[in-house]
Amino acid sequence: MVREWLSVLRLGKHKNNSPEVEDLYKSLDSDKMPVHIAIIMDGNGRWATRRGLPRALGHRAGVESLREIVKTCSSLGVGFLTVYAFSTENWKRPAEEVTTLMDLLVEYLNKELKELHHNNVRVKTIGRIDELPAKARDALEVAAAETSQNTGLTLNLALNYGGRNEITEAVKQIGRDASAGVLNPDDIDENIISKYLYTAGMPDPDLLIRPSGEQRISNFLLWQAAYAEFWYCPVLWPDFRRKHLLEAVIDYQNRQRRFGGLHHSKK
Ligand code: IPE
Ligand code: IPE
Ligand code: MG
Repeated sequence: MVREWLSVLRLGKHKNNSPEVEDLYKSLDSDKMPVHIAIIMDGNGRWATRRGLPRALGHRAGVESLREIVKTCSSLGVGFLTVYAFSTENWKRPAEEVTTLMDLLVEYLNKELKELHHNNVRVKTIGRIDELPAKARDALEVAAAETSQNTGLTLNLALNYGGRNEITEAVKQIGRDASAGVLNPDDIDENIISKYLYTAGMPDPDLLIRPSGEQRISNFLLWQAAYAEFWYCPVLWPDFRRKHLLEAVIDYQNRQRRFGGLHHSKK
């Protein structure tokens, strides 16, 4: 914890931080950092359209936000950052937009891998990766393999991800294992189900952020978000900066999580 706090202080002193961001850093409680933050990176299209630009440029601008947020989470000592980058429903978009998104993913991984590795970030994925274009699959495989031994932030890319699809796949596999005699149906409990999800071995998200003003889950982490704290903001993802993340974390730190139990007094 002390090490993490020191890194917060170091980052807080970063020369590019505005006084407002410096103040936000000072308001953070290092003992109450969310272990897992999940973000629905939404609003790229509107960001571009409002500027009279093609949607593709909105997606490109969104990559900059991702860069900054990954760095910030990494230096805050957050354990897991899951970002919704492409849903199982996003295939409904024009083929050209889908291609742009896949190309940007490959470009991001190629350009950023060294830096991610340098920052001790471990890259992982959730979703039906086997259905992505080969170029994207290859880049993801390289990134995951090269960073697999890293012990800092886990950057979890949700790609071709859908919560219902994830649960359906888990049910299928549980059915297979049960009929093969590997799993006794009477032993199935919430822990076992969690182990069959893409997120097996990861803690549930503590804080779920959705920018762009939309207030819906859009098929993201349906099982895992059972007790996540939600944080919405009107800012579009390409405008989402370190400041907004810090605001979300501070808000989270001031909430009382009861998990269905009774109020616990603050320390
Ligand atoms: C999020 O931005 C990126 C993806 C869904 C892949 P959008 O493209 O959904 O942007 P809006 O919601 O149309 O503004
Ligand atoms: C959710 O955003 C998916 C991602 C950000 C990848 P969408 O823009 O696809 O969600 P809806 O259509 O507004 O619910
Ligand atoms: Mg959207």
